[in-house]
Amino acid sequence: MTLFPELSVSILDADLLSLKDSLSVLEKTRVVGSIHLDVMDGHFVPNLTLGPKVAKDLKAHTSLPISAHLMVSNPDPLLEPFAQAGVSAISVHQEACPHLHRTLSTIHALGLKAGVALNPATPVCTLEEVLPVVDSVLIMSVNPGFGGQGFIPEMLEKIQKLKRLLKGTPRPIRVAVDGGIKATNAPEVLKAGADALIVGSSLFAANLPLAGALETFEEVFRRIGNHEP
Ligand code: DX5
Ligand code: ZN
Repeated sequence: MTLFPELSVSILDADLLSLKDSLSVLEKTRVVGSIHLDVMDGHFVPNLTLGPKVAKDLKAHTSLPISAHLMVSNPDPLLEPFAQAGVSAISVHQEACPHLHRTLSTIHALGLKAGVALNPATPVCTLEEVLPVVDSVLIMSVNPGFGGQGFIPEMLEKIQKLKRLLKGTPRPIRVAVDGGIKATNAPEVLKAGADALIVGSSLFAANLPLAGALETFEEVFRRIGNHEP
């Protein structure tokens, strides 16, 4: 049982050739709830990363659920391949989906959890009409494309705005925050209302061994209180 809130580990900045060792460290902690796979097409964002094959290989080496974050201009053709690769959830960008309701419904039809990611400039109100088919909202707290960027502080208010919008929804919708999260700013992101923190470079690019970096987050979560929603 993972601690509440959840830490979702972005492997964007991990050394992919030593990922297998990292996976066993991640599985030993209670603070990690999932692996966050940043899929980039070099068009929607100025970076190119990985595809369904990496998700499939990861799936074969971890029991942690894998959540794909599609930073691509045309996510629809990728939904089935990532579902077949074994991911548990797919988040698409609101800005990349002219038929967002249909895209989210397709993710559900594939048996996966459906998430919507919002770039920093995109208002939360753009989600109002699709909340019935959303399981999680990903608030980008950096401009997407690269790990290791600085947290955009204005996003704290955006998280609070989203929490107000989600008040009273018939189903719980998770609020995840993605980008620039460190053990130092995690408390205020959690206080703003985040249920899940996506963390990359402060685990992998940090000078601490992975287990030590995870400990600092576990400490933060313990201090905030391991409260269920
Ligand atoms: C950025 C990605 C994030 C990023 C998180 O476009 O969506 O998931 O990799 O990495 P850090 O924690 O380094 O900002
Ligand atoms: Zn991401």
